[in-house]
Amino acid sequence: MAKPRDEGLCDPVTVDATLDRDSDLTQRAPVTVDPTLDLASDSTQRAPATVDAALDSTQRDLVTGDDAIGSTQRGFATADDSLELTQRGSLAVEDSLDLTQRGPVTVDEALDLAFGLAQRGPAHGPNPRVGCVLLAPDGQVIGQGWHRGAGTPHAEVAALNQAQAANLPTTGATAVVTLEPCHHWGLTPPCTQALTAAGIKRVVYALADPNPTAAGGAVALAEAGIEVIGPVAERRAIDLNWAWFHALSWGRPVVTWKLATTLDGRIAALDGSSQWITSAAARRHAHANRQEVDAIAIGTGTLYADDPALTARVDATVEAALAPDQPLRVVLGDRPIPAQARLHGPGGPVIALPGHDPAQVLAALAERQVRHLLIEGGATVAAAFLAADLVDAIDAYIAPIILGDGTSAVAPFGVTTLADAPRWQIVETAQLGSDIFTRLRRTTAPEQSFTPTLGGSS
Ligand SMILES: NC(=O)c1ccc[n+]([C@@H]2O[C@H](COP(=O)([O-])OP(=O)(O)OC[C@H]3O[C@@H](n4cnc5c(N)ncnc54)[C@H](OP(=O)(O)O)[C@@H]3O)[C@@H](O)[C@H]2O)c1
Repeated sequence: MAKPRDEGLCDPVTVDATLDRDSDLTQRAPVTVDPTLDLASDSTQRAPATVDAALDSTQRDLVTGDDAIGSTQRGFATADDSLELTQRGSLAVEDSLDLTQRGPVTVDEALDLAFGLAQRGPAHGPNPRVGCVLLAPDGQVIGQGWHRGAGTPHAEVAALNQAQAANLPTTGATAVVTLEPCHHWGLTPPCTQALTAAGIKRVVYALADPNPTAAGGAVALAEAGIEVIGPVAERRAIDLNWAWFHALSWGRPVVTWKLATTLDGRIAALDGSSQWITSAAARRHAHANRQEVDAIAIGTGTLYADDPALTARVDATVEAALAPDQPLRVVLGDRPIPAQARLHGPGGPVIALPGHDPAQVLAALAERQVRHLLIEGGATVAAAFLAADLVDAIDAYIAPIILGDGTSAVAPFGVTTLADAPRWQIVETAQLGSDIFTRLRRTTAPEQSFTPTLGGSS
């Protein structure tokens, strides 16, 4: 549900006036984020804190149990609503791209805009989605940018480029950005350098960079004499890049298990038929989600039973309607991939990972810079990842069908009593055609610790 325009926003005052109220807090050192923070946070429901509220350290806190309960009480979105989840910003970004149309905005409004801009970036890959808005001292927006993927200008540089292209002076401006500006040479120069060179006076950022390689921007900017305020919207910024943030924190790809099931938890009928349990609307949604991950994995059981293509399609019903960006296709297990398998058709690269150890699978995928793995295998692979506590989120599509027999969604994975069953937190629910979609996330941090193998933004 789109957030009302005026929710959480300051009165329309100039940037200087807004920031002056917090001048005693602007010297505070950046804080780190507990990696377990916001494990199940819900971007679509929670209103962002205002910058003022976020700067009050007594209010900047963890998600409460009440927050979590609230997310399960949300009404259903329509199928159309839920298909747009990834594209939706808080404000109408399209409207805002013309700098000349808008009057002065507050820092909170600029932050909202920055989050909306960030959502235009790719939802997967080695880099996070980041948005940046530049405000002149009178609050006028003079530049907007977002990160379009590894190797392209970071959001701050994109915003500076826009201002410079429009001959708008950046000296004395405030940069409002959804992630702490980077302070390292990756594929592009450090943003701290670009902001300093542009004469930026103040930087407000939502989240400290969890990537040790890129972090340190806030300190470097402060040392360069720039006023630095942040982090001011950690939960919202983590939601924006949930998989990226947790992949960095946990040192391994984040795993989402996707399943299409009947009301009685069956993923195939007794005769093996499983196409299609869910409606076309649900399959469209699933294809949109495939565009947000780096890799999709199945076991050889699903490969031999269903011969799936594992492509991300812009139209789920048209096999040739491939999305421009295709996930890596991964087959788990010892049996070979048949030469005639549909997997060999157009789509992302295909790899086979023999063996049955989920941790080794994730280590191998981390080496390939996979941040977000979608498991679309059957009951066996799902059970293996659950038993290893390596499922972080579940995308469940539930059809109003009862089979009474057939393949259970998951094989036994060691739970014998109710108290031992891991509980999941619902973070999203929608009706898709005749089906229910629900997204769940883990409520406790993973047990296994990995040696971090994943780098961050570049
Ligand atoms: N409705 C749905 O959402 C959905 C989704 C997927 C599948 N399905 C249905 O599920 C059925 C297939 O089920 P399935 O359980 O055979 O599929 P699966 O879990 O995808 O594949 C199982 C096979 O993967 C290999 N494997 C890989 N990693 C493993 C591990 N850690 N532990 C054990 N085995 C591992 C094993 O084969 P090797 O001997 O080759 O090692 C195993 O037999 C089909 O009827 C399919 O239609 C339904």
